[in-house]
Amino acid sequence: MAVGDILNEILTSPMNIGLLAVIFYLIYKIIRDRNDGGRGPQKPAEPELPKLKRDFTIEELKEFDGNQPDGRVLVGVNGSVYDMTKGKRFYGPGGPYASFAGRDASRNLATFNTEPNDKTEYDDLSDLTPAEMDSVLEWESQFKVKYDYVGKLLRPGEKHTNYDEELETQKDEPETKKEN
Ligand code: HEM
Repeated sequence: MAVGDILNEILTSPMNIGLLAVIFYLIYKIIRDRNDGGRGPQKPAEPELPKLKRDFTIEELKEFDGNQPDGRVLVGVNGSVYDMTKGKRFYGPGGPYASFAGRDASRNLATFNTEPNDKTEYDDLSDLTPAEMDSVLEWESQFKVKYDYVGKLLRPGEKHTNYDEELETQKDEPETKKEN
């Protein structure tokens, strides 16, 4: 098939044009944010926020979408909450994946979808296919390496863990392996 035919095929389908638009938009946002990202000396790095250790309900998580004064960005994945503040150019306000901030992003990551998931109830993901669940686990393993684990995303009726004791004992120790 000639290049002209391929182009013709792509450009005559409204769905393909829509997908192309999404791809260009996401690439544009990522490149723009990277260029704005303060590589030069003119923009000092933002001070790191203190480490957070606590559990969250879906409702409590909402507040941490990066629009609040401290700008912290938390994202729920597969029953865990991660502090994605250092990935602000992705998840912060205006970022390509801002819709994940302050929310449980599991279903989006499973289905490769960036539409905001505004479900207010806990999502047990039980209807996901094995392939979709693998996708969630794959993303989560990347997040575990790159971001800090904060705590659990609580199921209805589940109690917040008291992490105070744990933090006390960790104070004098060098940083240990991340939980989960
Ligand atoms: C089809 C258009 C898409 C393009 C062109 C695209 C492009 C990219 C690129 C270039 C990066 C890496 C940026 C870097 O490391 O500097 C990235 C990261 C990422 N993308 Fe996409 N993406 C697309 C769609 C999606 C969709 C639909 C999702 C939803 C699951 C998604 C989720 C992510 C996530 C979670 C990251 C990782 C950010 C991090 O490291 O924390 N992307 N994308």
